[in-house]
Amino acid sequence: MTKVLITGITGQDGAFLADQLLAKGYEVVGTTRRGSTPKMGRLDRLGITHKLKFVSMELTEFSNVINVLRAEKPDYIYNLGAQSFVLDSFEHPHLTSEINYHGYLNILEAIKIQGLDCSVYQASTSEMYGDVLSDPQNEDTPFNPMSPYAVSKAAAHYLGRNYRAAYGIKASNGILFNHESELRGREFVTRKITSQLAILLEQQGEAVKLGNLDSVRDWGYAPDYVAGMILINEAKVASDYVIATNTVSTVRNFFKSSAIAAGFSPVFDGEGINERCICKKSSKVLCEVDEKYFRPSDVNYLRGDYSKIERELGWSPTVSLEEMTEKMMASDIDWVKKGYPPSF
Ligand code: NAP
Ligand code: GDD
Repeated sequence: MTKVLITGITGQDGAFLADQLLAKGYEVVGTTRRGSTPKMGRLDRLGITHKLKFVSMELTEFSNVINVLRAEKPDYIYNLGAQSFVLDSFEHPHLTSEINYHGYLNILEAIKIQGLDCSVYQASTSEMYGDVLSDPQNEDTPFNPMSPYAVSKAAAHYLGRNYRAAYGIKASNGILFNHESELRGREFVTRKITSQLAILLEQQGEAVKLGNLDSVRDWGYAPDYVAGMILINEAKVASDYVIATNTVSTVRNFFKSSAIAAGFSPVFDGEGINERCICKKSSKVLCEVDEKYFRPSDVNYLRGDYSKIERELGWSPTVSLEEMTEKMMASDIDWVKKGYPPSF
């Protein structure tokens, strides 16, 4: 039976990936790390926790990584484990680099030293384009990273390419643009908006406090992107691929569409730090700007060109931003109504 090992299985992408790989009949092993409570919320929500094998693995411990790979001998590895929150990387640059760069170095070295016959997928990111040098961004666009997170991911990206060229390791990089879902972490802006609007609607919560409303992102739907990851890792030849939708929206527009999907009548007024959004019907303040959420340097614009993966592997997005916004808003309203504990 085909055996897959996923680092970061408890995160958004790891959960959807495990689900899709189980549906293909694969044996799925997920690595977890010690914490005060297990973080199985997303896997539980998909109803798959009992179908998975878990092994304890801290990406930053080389001996741990080499022992796990020696014992499991997977056919495919997906390295999704990361310190993935850009804002946090300014506070914890060393930790971010340890996990995101050295963690992947540990995996590649473990494969090389043991001569493992496997394909490995690295979770590269559109953040590497940073202050973009051309538009839209594709596999040939130079990187111009704007955060310690983006620098750590760019270093890991080049490391994968180097181990591919130097040692013939089947290492692929998926350069994924932002992708969101009902399982997205609540610190990322889309789910922060939908989860807090649901609380505002159902329980009279406070206005959502946001940072850079002008930021532009190319947002897609996570299950679509995870399907693309599988195509990349199972392709005959290892390579680098962009996954995106080639459409863009501002944070402000995402907020407006989410508020409309929740049944509010949002109108923005004011400028800069004084900008806010009010519901025309109820006069409720829905959102305010708070300096706390601005980054020392931000990525203001991203738009991906996914024509390489469409041409070579037949991938294209199936869920529009409007459909995704409605799904996320409906899921969060349901979540608040049912009084679910905030397990993710
Ligand atoms: P996520 O929800 O934040 O999940 C991150 C996962 O990494 C969690 O399972 C976490 O485990 C694990 N992890 C963190 N530190 C670790 C360590 N030291 N050792 C082992 N595992 C560790 O992220 P995601 O949105 O699913 O993204 C998956 C990957 O794709 C990440 O590498 C991210 O950087 C990259 N990416 C994401 C996007 C996006 O838009 N979502 C776009 C491009 C690239 P715990 O549960 O124990 O914390
Ligand atoms: N998180 C957050 N919270 N972001 C905000 C807020 C806020 O209150 N207000 C405005 N923003 C802006 C950020 O400044 C950024 O420009 C944009 O919204 C998106 O922020 P995030 O949702 O945190 O995502 P990200 O683009 O920084 O990073 C995500 O996507 C990357 C792919 O490009 C993460 O998933 C990364 O792991 C991933 O690599």
